[in-house]
Amino acid sequence: MRNRVCQLLGIQYPILQGGLAYVGNGALAAAVSNGGGFGQVGTAGRTPDNFKEQVRIAAELTDKPFGANLPISEHSDNTPYIEAILEMKDKLTAVSLSAGNPKPLIPLFKEVGLKVMVMTASVKHSLKAEELGADLVICEGFEAGGHDSPLEMTLFALLPQVTRAVKIPVVAAGGIANGQGVAAAFALGAEGVQLGTRFVATKECEAHENYKNLLVQAEDHATVVLERSIGRTLRVLKSPFAEKILEFEKTNPTVEQLLPYIRGVNNRVAAIEGRVDEGWMNCGQAVGLIDSIESATDVVRNLAREAGEVIGSLQSVRTIFGK
Ligand SMILES: Cc1cc2nc3c(=O)[nH]c(=O)nc-3n(C[C@H](O)[C@H](O)[C@H](O)COP(=O)(O)O)c2cc1C
Repeated sequence: MRNRVCQLLGIQYPILQGGLAYVGNGALAAAVSNGGGFGQVGTAGRTPDNFKEQVRIAAELTDKPFGANLPISEHSDNTPYIEAILEMKDKLTAVSLSAGNPKPLIPLFKEVGLKVMVMTASVKHSLKAEELGADLVICEGFEAGGHDSPLEMTLFALLPQVTRAVKIPVVAAGGIANGQGVAAAFALGAEGVQLGTRFVATKECEAHENYKNLLVQAEDHATVVLERSIGRTLRVLKSPFAEKILEFEKTNPTVEQLLPYIRGVNNRVAAIEGRVDEGWMNCGQAVGLIDSIESATDVVRNLAREAGEVIGSLQSVRTIFGK
């Protein structure tokens, strides 16, 4: 095994596919794992039964390790999802916990033999996760697609502060979409990377073609942040629908007033049904690097190859700084 993350998860490359609300299906998780990375089936946007079905699909399509993602505050009641993960535990290697307090869940999942990965966006929360027994932290910067931490720290500044603070392995997330990003994360002390947006634009992802095509067409300044008016941050693809929400947010709406625009169903109609004018689509800032819709298996292999090449090419840079 190449490093601690590979060892912990039993994988070839320390490249993870993040939980992807609505679009993180079993076929995608399996394709990522078949490439040597670590796929994850999401619970967000799924019923517990559909989640279990996607786990079964993933298990049929790969004999490699994969996991599940549970954004804690996403579900009004987590119990059925916790039960679903426990029921599927023999097919899973790890569970990632995000968007909420992982304290009661870490021992619960560890007790049944699952590795527990906790998503964090600050030094304080990373230290807390370590103290609570997390096997690794996934440190996510504000560049990332989907719900980000309202602390709004970008990965370049946050990551080295987190890797300096904790002893458990740190996986970097947010703004990574090619081998340069992977290499940079390792330079900042990470022992793995997690990508979200890049894996949406893949053949196996169940996102609608309209969404995938918009990701391929997108340029560098293609995202906006919604929900700031209610103290949260949701990074999505810039679109007429997203701009309409931003305009409405200027009126300082209450949560109840904003809710009709930011409910999961508004994500679903665009991301799954392809009605991109009627809903919003999660998207990270590195989207401008995505040029084609490929198999997720190839995405993982290409990332690993590119990262190796970039790190190799840095040998010439070394002479600038070294003796
Ligand atoms: C479409 C989409 C849906 C997401 N849904 C979730 C989710 O349900 N749970 C979660 O923990 N993170 C979620 N995220 C965050 C990703 O798991 C990942 O950490 C993030 O996308 C990494 O940043 P990147 O988009 O720049 O690659 C989502 C991201 C995207 C793009």
